[in-house]
Amino acid sequence: MKKYFSILSDMEDKIRQGTYHPGQKLPSVRSAAEVYGCSISTITRAYAELEKRHVIYSVPQSGFYVVVKPGDWRDNRDSKMIYFATVLPDLDAFPYLDFQHCLNKAIDIYKYDLFTYGDPLGLESFRHTLVSHLANDQVFTKAERIIVTSGAQQALEILAKMPFPNGREAVLVEQPSYDRYLRFLEREGTPVYGIARTAAGIDLQELERWFKSGKIKFFYTMSRYHNPLGTSYSVDERKAIAKLAGKYDVFILEDDYMADLGSDRQMDPIYASDGGEHVIYVKSFSKIIFPGLRVGAIVLPERLLKPFYAYKIYPDTSLLSQAALEVYIKNGMYERHKHKIGSLYASRMLALNESVERYNEPGLMEVPDIRSGIYTHFKLRPEVNVDRLLKRLAERHISVVPGKGFYLENYLEREKFLRISISQTQPEHIDEGVRVIVEEVKRGSR
Ligand SMILES: Cc1ncc(COP(=O)(O)O)c(C=O)c1O
Repeated sequence: MKKYFSILSDMEDKIRQGTYHPGQKLPSVRSAAEVYGCSISTITRAYAELEKRHVIYSVPQSGFYVVVKPGDWRDNRDSKMIYFATVLPDLDAFPYLDFQHCLNKAIDIYKYDLFTYGDPLGLESFRHTLVSHLANDQVFTKAERIIVTSGAQQALEILAKMPFPNGREAVLVEQPSYDRYLRFLEREGTPVYGIARTAAGIDLQELERWFKSGKIKFFYTMSRYHNPLGTSYSVDERKAIAKLAGKYDVFILEDDYMADLGSDRQMDPIYASDGGEHVIYVKSFSKIIFPGLRVGAIVLPERLLKPFYAYKIYPDTSLLSQAALEVYIKNGMYERHKHKIGSLYASRMLALNESVERYNEPGLMEVPDIRSGIYTHFKLRPEVNVDRLLKRLAERHISVVPGKGFYLENYLEREKFLRISISQTQPEHIDEGVRVIVEEVKRGSR
């Protein structure tokens, strides 16, 4: 069964990536069986499935052909553009058929239960599935502490609004930090303070001063694959942060939105050092599968459960999404896809680092050594005119995101940088993109 699914997903990839282009005839059943080293009946089944999904069609006495589909998402893209700005997962690697299978399976399993409102805290069996799923990341907890949310975003929003048992009101955020959350906090009028985070990490003494101030209800952090920097905290920094949280009764909101891209034990989340006393752990599935699923999860310290329930009163997270994701995790497809995506991004990061090594010059841009995840950043010298640089890059068909938006409006000690995402950038474009960026930064520095 596993072999069948991996063949199906490989064929699907080849069609989506254009290896088999619309209208092209697929290899005969016999030759495909030879290529994949499987039986003829496995290929027949895979072709039948692809045909059922309207991805291919059969011509009697001739063979199978790739369907020509109008309105493919790639049709809207400018083929000359190098997309370093996009943060969506690579849609070419998207597990379209696997997920479709899981949706069908979920309806078979749960039947009419999926068409009710459901429990605001999430589908009971999915919460149990998450217990072992999270344990793979050293997040040990029980189902009663897990609440399913409509994406990580909903968890972040509720935490900003709800009262905390430490009786404090302000939120401390790293600077820079996740832009949308910063805008949300500002718009809501939440008291919010910033603390500098750079490629070198965070000043733990300054963090302690903030924790000691008696103002902070929680500290919002991305311990690994920081958005926008791409960097991760060292093991010592994680442990120190967990310790300070306990000492001053400040909660840590750990947004582990890219958890699945880190298999290295050195990358264990802060939660692993604290065991869930002061660390609120937030999980997203958007960077691995697709954001349209709108499913996330939160692991809450005991003391926060009741106040959180009071805000999670609507059963607003799609039951169908939860059930399909549960099937996807349980049958091992998630694990397989995670490795596929992880190595795809790691190879692009490697290509990016090699290109930086090739073109960058001392004193021009500072680029951290990041091996996985989707982000890195190019730190610019203070005198660079970023608006002019962006304009010139756009003229040369390169899209990047400037660092400015990742700071609070009133935070003035900003660094100048470009956030670079490789999630939708093909390796052959990376080298060209880096070359042009270096050229334009040099031109702007003269
Ligand atoms: C740091 C960070 N946290 C959370 C999210 C949102 O996650 P979700 O799609 O699960 O709501 C994003 C989305 O880009 C993000 O960058």
